[in-house]
Amino acid sequence: MMGFGGFKLLFIWVLFLLCLSPSFSQFNPADKYSIDCGSPSNTSIGSRVFLSDNLASSYLSTPQNVLVDTSANSIPQSEYSQLYRTARIFSQPSTYTFRIIQSGRHWIRLYFFPFSASNYDLTSATFSVSTRNHALLSDFKANGASVKEYSVNITSGDLEITFTPSGTSFAFLNGLEVVSVPDPLIADDATSVKPPTNYRGLLNQALETVARVNMGGPIVTSRNDSLWRTWVPDRSFLKNPNLATNKSNIPAVRYPDGGATPDDAPRSVYGTAARMASETDPKSNFNVTWEFPVDRGFRYLVRLHFCDIVSDTANKLYFNVYIDDSSVLSDFDLSTKVEGNLATAYYADFVTQSIDDDQIRISIGPSGIRDVYPNAILNGVEIMKMNNSDGSLSGGDIPSSSSGSKKKNVGVIVGVVVGLAAVLLMGLVLFFVYKRRKQERINQSKMWTPLSTNGLSQTMGSKCSNGTTISAGSNFNYRCPFAAIQEATNNFDESWVIGIGGFGKVYKGVLSDGTKVAVKRGNPKSQQGLAEFQTEIEMLSQFRHRHLVSLIGYCDEKSEMILIYEYMENGTLKSHLYGSGFPSMSWKQRLEICIGAARGLHYLHTGYSKAVIHRDVKSANILLDENLMAKVADFGLSKTGPEIDQTHVSTAVKGSFGYLDPEYFRRQHLTEKSDVYSYGVVLFEVLCARPVIDPSLPREMVNLAEWAMKWQKKGQLEQIIDVTLKGKIRPDSLRKFGETAEKCLADVGVDRPSMGDVLWNLEYVLQLQEAVLQNDPDENSTNVIGELSPQIHDFNHADANTGTAQFEMSSGDDISGVSMSKVFSQLVKSEGR
Ligand SMILES: *[C@@H]1O[C@H](CO)[C@@H](O)[C@H](O)[C@H]1NC(C)=O
Ligand SMILES: *[C@@H]1O[C@H](CO)[C@@H](O)[C@H](O)[C@H]1NC(C)=O
Ligand SMILES: *[C@@H]1O[C@H](CO)[C@@H](O)[C@H](O)[C@H]1NC(C)=O
Ligand SMILES: *[C@@H]1O[C@H](CO)[C@@H](O)[C@H](O)[C@H]1NC(C)=O
Ligand SMILES: *[C@@H]1O[C@H](CO)[C@@H](O)[C@H](O)[C@H]1NC(C)=O
Ligand SMILES: *[C@@H]1O[C@H](CO)[C@@H](O)[C@H](O)[C@H]1NC(C)=O
Repeated sequence: MMGFGGFKLLFIWVLFLLCLSPSFSQFNPADKYSIDCGSPSNTSIGSRVFLSDNLASSYLSTPQNVLVDTSANSIPQSEYSQLYRTARIFSQPSTYTFRIIQSGRHWIRLYFFPFSASNYDLTSATFSVSTRNHALLSDFKANGASVKEYSVNITSGDLEITFTPSGTSFAFLNGLEVVSVPDPLIADDATSVKPPTNYRGLLNQALETVARVNMGGPIVTSRNDSLWRTWVPDRSFLKNPNLATNKSNIPAVRYPDGGATPDDAPRSVYGTAARMASETDPKSNFNVTWEFPVDRGFRYLVRLHFCDIVSDTANKLYFNVYIDDSSVLSDFDLSTKVEGNLATAYYADFVTQSIDDDQIRISIGPSGIRDVYPNAILNGVEIMKMNNSDGSLSGGDIPSSSSGSKKKNVGVIVGVVVGLAAVLLMGLVLFFVYKRRKQERINQSKMWTPLSTNGLSQTMGSKCSNGTTISAGSNFNYRCPFAAIQEATNNFDESWVIGIGGFGKVYKGVLSDGTKVAVKRGNPKSQQGLAEFQTEIEMLSQFRHRHLVSLIGYCDEKSEMILIYEYMENGTLKSHLYGSGFPSMSWKQRLEICIGAARGLHYLHTGYSKAVIHRDVKSANILLDENLMAKVADFGLSKTGPEIDQTHVSTAVKGSFGYLDPEYFRRQHLTEKSDVYSYGVVLFEVLCARPVIDPSLPREMVNLAEWAMKWQKKGQLEQIIDVTLKGKIRPDSLRKFGETAEKCLADVGVDRPSMGDVLWNLEYVLQLQEAVLQNDPDENSTNVIGELSPQIHDFNHADANTGTAQFEMSSGDDISGVSMSKVFSQLVKSEGR
């Protein structure tokens, strides 16, 4: 009955990958406009056709038509030489309008080469370029051949790009391209460099590519990039080229399941690296540094691409990475990010601010770990400027002379203000961390030291210790002699087995004082099992909550891996929903179970300084005691959540098929919201009483999450609910329940509610069912919290602002049984303390 560590259904994975594979094939963007301005004929570059200007004129609204071309000899050698031969001139404001079929991020690429034509010297042109929401270039003067690349999220039906000459000057353009960007390419979150916190909100940023560099290799042209990007060599950015050597092994490059893809960077980028020139000197101690010119006053998204093509075994290369003077990855072991594989693509995103510097420095250097050969690698870098608060990306395009000193002053003031704010924020964060640590210490001593005051533990203490307790730390008081467990389980009597899982068997057991327990005995041969065993002890010895299954003891004698839990009379939630012949539960019973499980998860996510992510939320891991009270079990896969300086944990995808967060699957970015997704699937399971994957059903019904969402979106969820519930759920209650589950299943984590919000909504679902609401509020919203309690709103707001400072809830607290509004108002108060 005890759910065991993650089920891994390999063949279904392969199926899943097959479903994903179309995205790896030829790039076929929904929106695709390529124009060779001023050209009488189409121009092919690789697989792209740049439309002749006369075919493209329907996109352009301009008061005049001036096309120019140049003699061939002055054109620079480049993959775009052909585009640079002709141009269009605008002496009045002119606008291109493109119909956008698929909303989302789009690249806008502007191709410029200023040549001298009969009546126009393009080098003298000064102009601005903007979209409806963003200034892309202001008073721009082209200096040599250049491609300006922007990526802008377009949500309305049209994209307008306007060229405006400065003063009496004119504007020109050699080529123009607008193409859809695959959605997963830019995620919403990254790690902020200074102060080290989460950065959220990249989805709303317009970006300008300021560098896209292939370390240790030659130029990679658009022909060799699935998304038509160009990666330039790194040589010219190296501060001291003598300190770096090239390494190349393109055929070795592999892409992990669910991580970096060829769309993130092609093989030819991941397959070459710059490494420390440390081959001959095991005492090498220096950084390899690249300097990239940028405009000061902007934030930048820095994406670092890594792929270990230098090591011969995993866990051998450890190094440090710095952005400017801040350490962003320290003692970094790439193999831990890619399941111990070599030559596997990985990237990390950072947001840094360039306050008073005209460059961003990226350095790699040896780690301080002893007995590790000094080496460090970097395979690729992308630097993207983020729009400022005016939505603008322009700045620094003219070599500013007159405005230089003024700008600098502004820079200094901004710097001071930002600096102060940063110091304050750091202070605040430190204060919360300190306070929480202190609280933890108090709670821990509350929880563990007085073992003798806790009836159950006392029994175990005396029973298990037998004078043999090894008390390394207070947590280890739970170690239990093997002999005592043998006795409790009638020497692992096969007829006492109550469950079997991937990890081993679960036995019923009775302690000498009559306490019933569940004894989970791991298969000692399983290495995987050992890690899960340790995680489970670690997690459960830190957490105690009415809605989490309690650990009573464990045994690791003679390489045994045995865990002893409180006995849960009624088994798993799953068995009560279908397939086991238990009587059908009422809607109210089901809601109470959902609420209990939500409380347990909410506590895991917020009850401790670091969020704990369960990673294997499913109905088989929700257990029921003799009163059908729900407790969450099986922490073998849990991970502590993001540290202060990270927004997510990158990790190999684990969990159970059918419950798996698609975002987690795609990006391996693990957040609490992955649990929220799985929990949403459980909600539908509870409502429909059928397995989450049922291959025996017709194709569109196999996956419960998809099937239920289809009916939810149609507003006809009642069509597919458990037949025994038909006519017994009040429509309001069902509607709210469906909405809540739907929100949990949002595609992207940020759109999903927190477990706290879910809990609150389910409380409300229960109230709607029981119709205890006095004056049924005009309830049509998606966010009950906002309506019923303005305080909660404030609280959410405060939480969002401080980012990492979650509300205080002492670890020993058990909030069940208290009305939720009381709990929340307490939380709000404690926030203000
Ligand atoms: C240019 O390309 C467009 C779109 O691919 C095509 O419809 C048109 O016939 C081509 N024109 C010429 C002159 O090849
Ligand atoms: C574009 O912006 C909308 C609204 O801000 C957001 O919901 C969406 O996720 C964004 N899309 C992308 C691909 O960034
Ligand atoms: C590294 O590779 C680049 C591009 O192929 C080349 O220009 C450079 O000379 C190489 N450097 C060394 C030290 O071999
Ligand atoms: C680019 O692709 C071509 C084939 O399309 C291949 O021959 C060439 O080696 C590739 N270049 C690099 C740098 O990967
Ligand atoms: C590398 O650069 C970082 C950041 O500038 C600096 O703190 C560190 O001391 C440097 N390491 C070496 C070995 O020079
Ligand atoms: C960038 O522009 C968007 C509006 O398009 C705005 O919401 C966002 O706050 C801007 N970014 C910054 C850092 O101000």
